[in-house]
Amino acid sequence: MADTHFGAHQVPLEDKQALVDDVFHSVAQRYDLMNDLMSFGLHRAWKDALITALNPPKSRPFALLDVAGGTGDIAFRAVAAGGEETRVTVCDINPDMLAVGRERAARHPDGAAITFTEGNAEALPFADRSFDAVTIAFGIRNVPRIDAALREAFRVLKIGGKFLCLEFSAVDVPGLDRLYDFYSFNVIPALGRAVAGDAESYRYLVESIRRFPKPEAFAAMLRTAGFSRVSYQQMTGGIVALHSGWRL
Ligand SMILES: C[S@@+](CC[C@H](N)C(=O)[O-])C[C@H]1O[C@@H](n2cnc3c(N)ncnc32)[C@H](O)[C@@H]1O
Repeated sequence: MADTHFGAHQVPLEDKQALVDDVFHSVAQRYDLMNDLMSFGLHRAWKDALITALNPPKSRPFALLDVAGGTGDIAFRAVAAGGEETRVTVCDINPDMLAVGRERAARHPDGAAITFTEGNAEALPFADRSFDAVTIAFGIRNVPRIDAALREAFRVLKIGGKFLCLEFSAVDVPGLDRLYDFYSFNVIPALGRAVAGDAESYRYLVESIRRFPKPEAFAAMLRTAGFSRVSYQQMTGGIVALHSGWRL
């Protein structure tokens, strides 16, 4: 049986998803607050950069699939940036994260444009070539079979459609790397314990970031999945990278 990583631990590939699901079950209610606290609000700027790259059209129908969309952060931004005919499907494997998203949508003026669907990124419950764009933000590193998730994103994209993936990356600024390590391995788990009552889940999130392929290696995985014109831009000293590719 093949192994993979759950944070710093080696686990059978088959076991990883259940462990990841426990993490997001545990953090769902405090997820949005913790994102702001852990990133000093920076996750908002990173997500805005994804929306700028997505550039949803103002005057024609646009169907976006946000994979591992959780509580809907990307979806709300995409609907706000797009025109009246923008529709977003949030697909996530975790019912607790989706429940928080649905509650947010019920209170939000744009909520009706967003649909929340339970599903696995490795086997998306959607037809071939059904979306104009597919996004995934801070989700792909949690998926056990990343290559399968990339193939699925490609499958459900229309020809000419764009794929955008925002993910933590490798800090490449001398000095910032040591500060970032200290902050990640000491401050974030302590914050997780204080705010969400759960240090372990946040330790996993930090360790999973370190395990994720470097940007060049991830770009190669996108090409293998079939994407064209693959590129990436690093942000905030390499803390995050925004990857893109097209189905041509
Ligand atoms: C760090 S959160 C990101 C949520 C949201 N995209 C954001 O940026 O705020 C990661 C999400 O990935 C979801 N996830 C993990 N494995 C998944 C899978 N195999 N298929 C779909 N979603 C998955 C989790 O349930 C969780 O909601």
